Amino acid sequence: MASVTSLSDSVHQRLAAALSAAVPQAGSADPLLRRSDRADFQANGILALAKKEKANPRELATQVVSRVESGELIKDVEVSGPGFLNITVTDRAITENLAVRHADGERLGVPLKENAGITVVDYAQPNVAKEMHVGHLRSAVIGDALRGMLDFTGEKTIGRHHIGDWGTQFGMLIQYLFEHPGELAPAADVDGQQAMSNLNRVYKASRALFDADEEFKERARGRVVALQSGDKETLELWQQFVDESKVYFYSVFEKLDMEIRDEEIVGESAYNEGMPETARLLEEMGVAVRSEGALVVFFDEIRGKDDQPVPLIVQKADGGFGYAASDLTAIRNRVFDLRATTLLYVVDVRQSLHFKMVFETARRAGWLSEHVTAHNMGYGTVLGADGKPFKTREGETVRLEDLLDEAVQRAAEVVREKAQDLTEDEIQERAAQVGIGAVKYADLSTSPNRDYKFDLDQMVSLNGDTSVYLQYAYARIQSILRKAGETKPVAHPELELAPAERALGLHLDSFGDTVFEAAAEYAPHKLAAYLYQLASLYTTFYDKCPVLKAEAPEQIENRLFLCDITARTLHRGMGLLGIRTPERL
Ligand code: ARG
Repeated sequence: MASVTSLSDSVHQRLAAALSAAVPQAGSADPLLRRSDRADFQANGILALAKKEKANPRELATQVVSRVESGELIKDVEVSGPGFLNITVTDRAITENLAVRHADGERLGVPLKENAGITVVDYAQPNVAKEMHVGHLRSAVIGDALRGMLDFTGEKTIGRHHIGDWGTQFGMLIQYLFEHPGELAPAADVDGQQAMSNLNRVYKASRALFDADEEFKERARGRVVALQSGDKETLELWQQFVDESKVYFYSVFEKLDMEIRDEEIVGESAYNEGMPETARLLEEMGVAVRSEGALVVFFDEIRGKDDQPVPLIVQKADGGFGYAASDLTAIRNRVFDLRATTLLYVVDVRQSLHFKMVFETARRAGWLSEHVTAHNMGYGTVLGADGKPFKTREGETVRLEDLLDEAVQRAAEVVREKAQDLTEDEIQERAAQVGIGAVKYADLSTSPNRDYKFDLDQMVSLNGDTSVYLQYAYARIQSILRKAGETKPVAHPELELAPAERALGLHLDSFGDTVFEAAAEYAPHKLAAYLYQLASLYTTFYDKCPVLKAEAPEQIENRLFLCDITARTLHRGMGLLGIRTPERL
């Protein structure tokens, strides 16, 4: 098999191609190449190939070795164990690969994927007239990171914030507002905090009335019908709630240092008009059936107590539509109007049964197929230090803004302690970047489907797997580059590399491979782990290899080059996760 390597290929990819080419049974085997402690790489693929070919693995390995050309890329290859290959690459190959990445700027020599599709990412979906809590944090942070990674690979992403802006509770709220006009000031005049406290006040007052007054309850029920049938006056009051809530959402997202676009806020209400048609189509196709007046979908394998089937309710017996109908209608919109090839839902794992039923229904209707797939990236629960779901001492859910403010405050302490030449303003600015980064990183560095502990002390710690540690590594490099003055980073492929330089270099070279893998698997924690290892390898390099005090001028330039590309890779990788890298800390 002839190997065509483009300059953007990593050393790893080039090596895999060279090995496949050297296998006598043309192009038939995956070399199963991975980084190794013994040499730079180890290839295990020969064992499987030998089994398939009924050949002796060691003999086959020896044959492959004799056909591998050492030269530009491969310095040394030897057979070990039952038929592994231990491979050492040349220093030149490492430095040259990195030089190409360094010269490429923003993309660091990472190619865009071929046949990119369109992924609609459903994330950051708080509910109107309600406060945001840590659960909403996870969806926003994970969704934003997934978008960053997917976009980087060349996939086109479209965001959808499926906010809860529809449903029976609005009957109660609107009816209250109708009877107590003027309790919500125009949204334009308030900030996020005020908006939320206004909404809270109205919510509490209307709830109290609803529970105490049967007649109000009746009027509120009538209001729901008016809302769903598009009564003008009712819609105007509803819009006030939505606008007021958006002011609040935006203030929280701004604190989170996250860009949310207005045109991507498409809540449940947006699908109201399409819901009758969704129901009609499903009924006509026989996917949904009438049962006790409601329109429902049954699933053989989904059963509740007493082995009774649990249906998905498309339309209630009273004619009303709910959460499932809005999600099914959203799927039609995303598939047929937005032309999505992938639908990704970043939603609490506790809703996984809902999505399982919604997806299966859409599949039966032909809206999802082998060409358009849907995934629920279900995330786990945020736990307190005690290992129980995160609550205040009084047992209430923690307000997201309070949590973020506290993180920034803690970060300010850390920054102030370390800061030597920073003004108070600068400290506050860094504190926001460090504090918010810490919250995001703690979330992203755990596999999304696992629960994680919200522990601010640990999050802003300078030691261990934290964003602060990564941000310090970045800032330290910037300080070295400043100190270097007129001496600039320049790659010198002719130089021999020290072990710490090789380890750092090979890791840097695999940035693109890692992002592609993490994006394909919707696994931001793999990118986080990569970055943490990068910072660790850099620390070792920095301990072992003097940079500005290196012996020869070329050595200084080459080490500055390694510093610079490490910084750029950290900056890029953190950026994909939505985390800032301040130039000074
Ligand atoms: N608003 C919902 C909640 O807070 C999440 C919406 C998830 N997205 C969806 N398409 N159902 O629980």
